[in-house]
Amino acid sequence: MSKTLLEVLQATTAYFHKNGVESARLNAEHLLAHSLQCRRLDLYLQFDRPLGDAELEPLRERVKKRAQGVPLQHLLGTSEFFGRVFASDARALIPRPETEQLVELVLKFRAELAGGAILDLGVGSGVIALTLAAEWPEAQIHAIDISPDALGLARENAKRLGLLERVTFSESDLFEKVDGSYDLIVANLPYIARATIPTLAREVRHDPRTALDGGDSGDEILLRLIVDATTHFRPGGRLAIEIGHDQSARLADALARNGYHDIECQTDHQGVQRFLLAKYG
Ligand SMILES: C[S@@+](CC[C@H](N)C(=O)[O-])C[C@H]1O[C@@H](n2cnc3c(N)ncnc32)[C@H](O)[C@@H]1O
Repeated sequence: MSKTLLEVLQATTAYFHKNGVESARLNAEHLLAHSLQCRRLDLYLQFDRPLGDAELEPLRERVKKRAQGVPLQHLLGTSEFFGRVFASDARALIPRPETEQLVELVLKFRAELAGGAILDLGVGSGVIALTLAAEWPEAQIHAIDISPDALGLARENAKRLGLLERVTFSESDLFEKVDGSYDLIVANLPYIARATIPTLAREVRHDPRTALDGGDSGDEILLRLIVDATTHFRPGGRLAIEIGHDQSARLADALARNGYHDIECQTDHQGVQRFLLAKYG
């Protein structure tokens, strides 16, 4: 016997609750809308619509995977970031809302740096570099990542957003294969202490390990970045990085010791010290 859309939505929500999925109803709505190829809010206009097996079959598989902890974004194949839709899969980190704030902070330098050269270190799916390319049309943007998989996804996103001409991509371990100088270096690199990774939410463990693992202390890659970046700034260059919740004091100290100035820590919307800004030269 066929069920109505509302019955399917309620049953899926209950199943998600039982299996510890956060925001159970919202997840159910997203998956149902994705399966029916409609907008989420359009579900509300068709609660009485009967759903047959042909429509329910692809949904069942996704619901099962979501209940097992596969992230919603991997099941939808997309993530939203700064008002744009990015392809999202296991090749790169699922973009986080905090990182939108990093982009907002960086966009404040637009008037000062105008047609400046920007380096995005650890591009992942491309959200920072491509959002800057779209929002800051006169900037020249170079994006690097150590992971060829992430670079493949970032290039696909560049193509999808019509921004392939605006960003150059290269594979490199930090600055190893980078010889340019930049007005702005922005980075959301891994900052999680290795021992903490197994304790993270099951969804986070679907992110690539290379996107999370910040070494034993969590800030190993960021400390390396702070030192290595000093030979890649143009005069008056700026650094903007996302950091772990307990890393601001140590990293601000490393910035000061390495000749940076105007060091500033900014909190995210949860009040966590999440971003460090600094100038060099
Ligand atoms: C936390 S993810 C962030 C991805 C993206 N910037 C974002 O905000 O969604 C960190 C990225 O840095 C890359 N990465 C890790 N170590 C790196 C290194 N030594 N050099 C360059 N990229 C690195 C990872 O492959 C991953 O794509």
